[in-house]
Amino acid sequence: MNTSYVDKFPENFLWGGAVAANQCEGGWKEGGKGVDYAACCKNGLGDLDVSRPQENVYHPEREAIDFYHRYPEDIKLFAEMGFKVFRTSIHWTRIFPTGDETEPNEEGLAFYDRMFDELRRYGIEPLITISHYEIPIDLVEKYKSWRSRHLIDCFERYCRVLFERYKDKVKYWLTFNEINNMRRNPSYVGGILVQPGENKSQAIFQASHHMFVANAKAVKLCHEIIPDARIGVMCSLSNIYPNNCDPVTVLETQDVRRRSLFFPDVMLRGYYPTYVYRLWKEHNVHVKMEEGDLELIKKYPNEFLAFSYYRTTTHEKGQPYFGDTGGDVGTPNPYLETSQWGWQIDPTGFRFTLNELWDRYQVPLFPVENGLGARDVVEDGKIHDTYRIEYLRKHILAMKEAIKDGVDIMGYAYWGPIDIVSAGTFQMSKRYGFIYVDKDDQGNGTLARLKKDSFEYYKKVIASNGEDL
Ligand code: BG6
Repeated sequence: MNTSYVDKFPENFLWGGAVAANQCEGGWKEGGKGVDYAACCKNGLGDLDVSRPQENVYHPEREAIDFYHRYPEDIKLFAEMGFKVFRTSIHWTRIFPTGDETEPNEEGLAFYDRMFDELRRYGIEPLITISHYEIPIDLVEKYKSWRSRHLIDCFERYCRVLFERYKDKVKYWLTFNEINNMRRNPSYVGGILVQPGENKSQAIFQASHHMFVANAKAVKLCHEIIPDARIGVMCSLSNIYPNNCDPVTVLETQDVRRRSLFFPDVMLRGYYPTYVYRLWKEHNVHVKMEEGDLELIKKYPNEFLAFSYYRTTTHEKGQPYFGDTGGDVGTPNPYLETSQWGWQIDPTGFRFTLNELWDRYQVPLFPVENGLGARDVVEDGKIHDTYRIEYLRKHILAMKEAIKDGVDIMGYAYWGPIDIVSAGTFQMSKRYGFIYVDKDDQGNGTLARLKKDSFEYYKKVIASNGEDL
């Protein structure tokens, strides 16, 4: 923690980029891989029509951008930009194809060994998400996913295998991607498919409790097996504003924000915040806990807070729930520009959020997703993505202001440094990358990689450690 005024990015600042296995790897049947949740959604992860993939129906995840085979070429490009960190996830079903085996799949483990070696060759730190919307579908079908305590054992076994295998290669870990989205969309975060007539809150809080216990066990294991590693919470924390200054709207907005902050409240502080007991009472929620659960959560909190920040939304009085990365949006904010996908761009909100989280938790922060999804046009083999450069520049400037405000920030991982499949819509045309991938929404294209103008820009930013913006 700094003890005096700082006006620069720290020397060891981890600049880089982030992706997720299901959105980039492809290789859906290779190396003994099982079937994951994302492969069972049809039109995007929010899809509740979840069923096993049909061979003859196109699904973008099957090949994605073929990172499974092309990772050496892609990592070389990341290294050329000067990446210090690269965040990706491990496809749970490559390691445990159904999630329930007692022995891991060696071919899956060997793939990540090769990928991590390649990163290390260039001095790039892997930052690994253990579960990023890729839960084995067998666990969903057989146990109704995280509703069952059995998942704690499956996850613990999975974590033990990862920590033991990669202890010399991976020093930064995240347990669940955007765990707070359990409140809004428990399906892809936790494999919870709420049944008609079911008490949704009951299902969500029970499953979340199991995930908190599993998280604490992962933290414990990580410290035991890799004492020099750091393991964080990952949440979607794009902020939400009241859309007017009526105190009732402001109070409701605080409540909506707490639905997200509830997760880091538990996982960083180590106990359930008192405001949740009223909520449980009013929603008839009875969370079943076992002896020792609360002690475990208390004893093994995470040590940093990683989060995604893309945009901000507004809350309108009386509206039930808005917010976070891909959720519904309240009334448009007249002060902000809007992306082609309707997301409102708000660099000042980024500084606000960094300050808010630092004030609340006093643990290092790590924005591990931030970026602009836009349509790109290739002209004479070039992509002049000035809009993406502007987005990046303004957000990095805002982050620098937050550093001057005294916020402790570990690094910055831009989302989708190479074009990948969109999680929300399964489109390729929603492109975030500094590297273009020749593939369209129907799966046509050569998969060739092409540098956009933003590639050189980000390279310059990293080379100057955030001074040349
Ligand atoms: C985050 C997810 O919510 O948003 C990513 O962690 C996702 O997996 C990102 O890709 C951007 O969303 P989208 O729908 O534009 O891909």
